[in-house]
Amino acid sequence: MAIARPIQIRFERYTGETGIAPAKPPRVVTPQERPALVERAERLLRERDAVLVAHYYVHPDLQDLAQATGGTVSDSLEMARFGHEHPAKTVVVAGVRFMGETAKILNPEKRVLMPDLAAECSLDLATPAEEFSRFCDAHPDRVVVVYANTSAAVKARADWMVTSSIAEKIVGWLHGQGRKVLWAPDKHLGDYVQRVTGADMLMWNASCVVHDEFKAIQLEELKALHPGAKVLVHPESPRAVIELADAVGSTTGIIQAAERLGAKEYIVATDGGIIHQMRKRLPGVTFIEAPTAGKGATCQSCAHCPWMAMNGLHNLIETLEGAPGHEVLVDPEVGRRAKVPIERMLDFAAEHLPTFRGSGDA
Ligand code: 13P
Ligand code: SF4
Repeated sequence: MAIARPIQIRFERYTGETGIAPAKPPRVVTPQERPALVERAERLLRERDAVLVAHYYVHPDLQDLAQATGGTVSDSLEMARFGHEHPAKTVVVAGVRFMGETAKILNPEKRVLMPDLAAECSLDLATPAEEFSRFCDAHPDRVVVVYANTSAAVKARADWMVTSSIAEKIVGWLHGQGRKVLWAPDKHLGDYVQRVTGADMLMWNASCVVHDEFKAIQLEELKALHPGAKVLVHPESPRAVIELADAVGSTTGIIQAAERLGAKEYIVATDGGIIHQMRKRLPGVTFIEAPTAGKGATCQSCAHCPWMAMNGLHNLIETLEGAPGHEVLVDPEVGRRAKVPIERMLDFAAEHLPTFRGSGDA
């Protein structure tokens, strides 16, 4: 059995210092064992009345399994909606912890499981609840808008939760109401939303270890080598990278842009896991990963989230077989308060996003 050693990931703390957090790659699945593992996982999902809700960045095995078993592969907004509205008693979230917590907050009566509860997110790590709460206390005149990539305790302190697919619309709407915004945690997404909406936004300091690594100069060089390619960028990327984009959007937004723009080649500045879905939807089209700060052994994420990568078939099966330590638990009082900003976002989405229901893998 091949078990890789944990890797140590450097991330930026809100103070600007460097933090370190481990990420443990899952057991490798060999081509010989894959069919039997997939069959076992499919059977367990049925027997346990469980639905698999996966993010585009997780391994293709889990994306395909979710789609084949009536679950979903989608962005964070659709993951939250889908898990909430699906009738299954158990929701299995293949993603990172904040996604499991969001599912639990919305569905306290359901069992929410994850293949690995230690799947972090650098944005969540960089936003400790107590310090964040003090920051909010110091600015009582601002409406607190937090990105989904935060802990339950941080959401409990917020007025609104947003994901990348709806941040611009909600902040634009708040701005239209004359409200000033306190934004956390992603500084690049905040900067992008600020520029698009013109809102008065006070920013927390944090970044995504994957998107922060995309580099504009190297991207320009790559564009020169592929003059016909369109550039698709997730707004967690630095401003200089966003400025080179033909389309900027959430993960679902990026896939929809590729379908809409009709190019033969795309350069994709987000986690490379998304390319699996893009190839399935647009066969014959070429997708190229955007360049990161380093190459091979010298890059930190290499455009793949080390925490999303912790989800695999082996630990999914363990989870479904009832191994301890896979259930997402949220303090009920914290959950009750955190539900308010999440539901506010879902209600806003239902009212203002015409495609909301179909924005996942439908
Ligand atoms: P999306 O909501 O666009 O899927 O983003 C989630 C995320 O963590 C991106 O890094
Ligand atoms: Fe967090 Fe970045 Fe991983 Fe998304 S890709 S979960 S923002 S660390």
